[in-house]
Amino acid sequence: MTKRPLRLRRSVLYVPASNEKAVAKTVSLPCDAVIYDLEDAVAPAAKEEARERLRDHFKANPESRCERVIRINSLSSAFGPEDFLAARACKPDAILIPKVDMPRDIADVADMLAETDAADAIRLWAMMETPKAFLNVGQIAEWGETPGSRLDCLVAGTNDLAKDLRLPGRDHAVLMPLMADLVLSARAFGLDVLDGVFNAFRDDDGFRSECGRSVAMGFDGKTLIHPGQIAVANEIFGISEAREAEANAIVEAFERPENRDAGVIGLDGRMVERLHLEEARRTLALAALQQGG
Ligand code: COA
Ligand code: MG
Repeated sequence: MTKRPLRLRRSVLYVPASNEKAVAKTVSLPCDAVIYDLEDAVAPAAKEEARERLRDHFKANPESRCERVIRINSLSSAFGPEDFLAARACKPDAILIPKVDMPRDIADVADMLAETDAADAIRLWAMMETPKAFLNVGQIAEWGETPGSRLDCLVAGTNDLAKDLRLPGRDHAVLMPLMADLVLSARAFGLDVLDGVFNAFRDDDGFRSECGRSVAMGFDGKTLIHPGQIAVANEIFGISEAREAEANAIVEAFERPENRDAGVIGLDGRMVERLHLEEARRTLALAALQQGG
């Protein structure tokens, strides 16, 4: 499995690139990543202006505390090729490809990036939001193992998926079996995976409970539509003090001379195996990133 650097992706905010105020605001928001959107959130008549805004924004802000991603229109659409050129010129951390149906949709963008970005600096994220994406989810994630694939993160697009599946309600809980497949495929090939958005951005209780379900399913973080959702996502997908303390206790227990060669030990009345040590080290590394950020 490809080893990827550990990154915090608890809170990943979409920002319509056409919204000048919102784009300017991103420099001070406490989210882990921003997705500047040129696709669904931007009306056709505003596409060119949105691309210009991103060029100006990245030029004025060459560095950023948070990860920066640009979502382009599909290369096969009328806007895709221009979006791609604008996104590439901004040198974001990643380009997010919408409506991926199969590995080829990612490979096409990777091939175009390879022409100018030999250092592989720009990663690729893939929107998983079509029925075909979910038929091919394992293949798509596995394709991330291909040298030069640049694939780093899968992003659930639950609004598009619900539309294409013709789900009558707005209750995305019915998508859970597909979301479980998505997490499974991401984990099988070492990719990060982000849950879809929660549309009712003033419903704090509903959002909190959806984040709880999402973290329990194994998602790394949640895509967001409003700055008011950042704090809750950071809290729920973050490492709590209690989890950090538990992880420290596990590491310390395995470091004791009598446990150094043990495969399994008892700690506070619970069985702890060496596999938990690996998990505890990851938890502590994430906690350190959280404190540094
Ligand atoms: N990113 C950055 N800033 C945002 C923001 C976002 N996603 N959403 C809202 N804001 C800002 C607004 O600009 C506003 O700033 P101001 O106080 O300086 O004027 C402030 O937060 C409060 O906004 P609010 O009035 O609560 O929301 P709204 O009614 O203006 O906007 C949405 C609601 C849903 C239209 C807006 O949040 C949005 O565009 N979200 C992203 C949508 C998107 O990208 N969808 C595609 C992927 S699903
Ligand atoms: Mg969409």
